[in-house]
Amino acid sequence: MSFVHSVSASIPARTWLGSPTATPAQRVELVTALQVRPASIASKYFYDARGSALFEEITRLPEYYPTRTEQHILASHADVLAQQIAPGATVIEWGAGNCDKARQLCAWLAPQFFVALDISADCLRTGVRQLQVACPAVQVRAVVADLTLDLVLPADVPRERRVVFYPGSSIGNYDPPQALQLLQRMRALVGSDGALLLGVDLLKPKRVLEAAYDDAAGVTAAFNRNILRHVNRLIGSDFDEDDWAHKAFFNVDEKRIEMHLQARTEVHVRWPGGGRVFGAGESIHTENSYKYDLHGFTALLEGAGFAQVQAWTDAQNWFAVVLARP
Ligand code: AVI
Repeated sequence: MSFVHSVSASIPARTWLGSPTATPAQRVELVTALQVRPASIASKYFYDARGSALFEEITRLPEYYPTRTEQHILASHADVLAQQIAPGATVIEWGAGNCDKARQLCAWLAPQFFVALDISADCLRTGVRQLQVACPAVQVRAVVADLTLDLVLPADVPRERRVVFYPGSSIGNYDPPQALQLLQRMRALVGSDGALLLGVDLLKPKRVLEAAYDDAAGVTAAFNRNILRHVNRLIGSDFDEDDWAHKAFFNVDEKRIEMHLQARTEVHVRWPGGGRVFGAGESIHTENSYKYDLHGFTALLEGAGFAQVQAWTDAQNWFAVVLARP
């Protein structure tokens, strides 16, 4: 269930909906996934305050091409997008983070409402404040929510002309059947007169992909290991980051980057009411990042009920920005 947060005077309290703490269901989800073999931690748990800051750092790394490539595509086609999405729309950003992209999008599209959705309250809080200052004419709302669960929007968000903005190829962090379900939920959210504006990372040489997820400065490694600190806070476990090595590789058959944390030696982990031993070399799967070809991704969109699909790519065909309508 969601509730209203109290925030500073510059943002009205009704701007905020959501719960800042781990729910019993999340605890069960985490403990269950840690106990099975192979163990996993859902990638949504990357994004505590430090994880969100590390992710922002990743987006500026020379090896991590998605963010700047998407940005370049959006900026190059901003005029066409503004023609397609007339002023006064309601833009709903799925996973808005620090609202960096939102500021620019609002300047291009002049929406009436902007709804920022994210699992990380820490990150949203600063982001929406800055967005409201940068775009005073836009009515900004923030919802802290686990976006894999049912979504409750503030009651004053219009139902007409909704545009779901889902940048950064976050869709790639879902397995294809889950991605289809998510796109179906977005289709339901936008109604028959809305649209979906989404970024998707495309297949490319393995060396480019693997460098993007195992950068020379070790920021992605820190991001991956930080999930253990977050889990420690959520379930009271005693993971020590130093026991775990960052692994990232492209799985050619599954067309996805996989990230894992591999135990450097035998590791004993405890949490209230339980614990387990990880053998040396045993790993915890923390993330998949699927890469698509445009044809396959269009088929996925069509399967979710989007009929009209327009796509723009960069010169190397590394990334695509897609505008899809029911
Ligand atoms: C958020 N998501 C799209 C990123 C990705 O590329 O899959 C998360 C990430 N993981 C490691 N680097 C970036």
